[in-house]
Amino acid sequence: MPTKVAILISGRGSNMAAILDAADREGWDVDFCLVLSNKASAGGLQLAADRGIPTDVLDHRSFGRGNRHLFDAALAERLQAAGAEWVVLAGFMRILGSNFVGPFAGRIMNIHPSLLPKYQGLHTHERALAAGEIRAGCTVHLVDDSLDGGPVLAQAEVPIVEGDDADSLAARVLIEEHRLYPAVVRAAVEGRLGELR
Ligand code: GRF
Repeated sequence: MPTKVAILISGRGSNMAAILDAADREGWDVDFCLVLSNKASAGGLQLAADRGIPTDVLDHRSFGRGNRHLFDAALAERLQAAGAEWVVLAGFMRILGSNFVGPFAGRIMNIHPSLLPKYQGLHTHERALAAGEIRAGCTVHLVDDSLDGGPVLAQAEVPIVEGDDADSLAARVLIEEHRLYPAVVRAAVEGRLGELR
């Protein structure tokens, strides 16, 4: 039976596309059962639909302020209904609480554009440059209900070079994201995550 994977996005979905491309190219035994965005305008939704993958939108704003737990529970319900065994966060710009993380504990992963535990949260590249770092990179980690704080599964490094700004650094890191994330998702699908550590 193919492993069922749901991907959550909020934007252009280039990491999602890299995962879908690798799965096709390499013939993974996987069923991408749902691509869901919290924003109807996310460009990645169309990319997924064009490949025949079911898509859905769950707008966090429709739950009202202070109701994060209701959004989390509704999200968990959608993904459970789709039969998701793994949840892959790919540029999904919401922090998930225990109503979501609980039902999928140990089966949610995220990619973050820094060498965690450094630079959790937003504006990672700006902060790495301001701190005078000489290397940056990306991290795939399991998600718990802390911000970018779950166990690290894999990392890739890039150098920071003279003249870098946040955009040039983000572009260099993104190339590594597109290489690293598919490899880790494949390992999860094939039950080989332990080999990465
Ligand atoms: C990536 O840099 C990812 O690391 C971060 O958000 C960005 C998403 O880009 N979490 P995309 O939507 O995958 O193109």
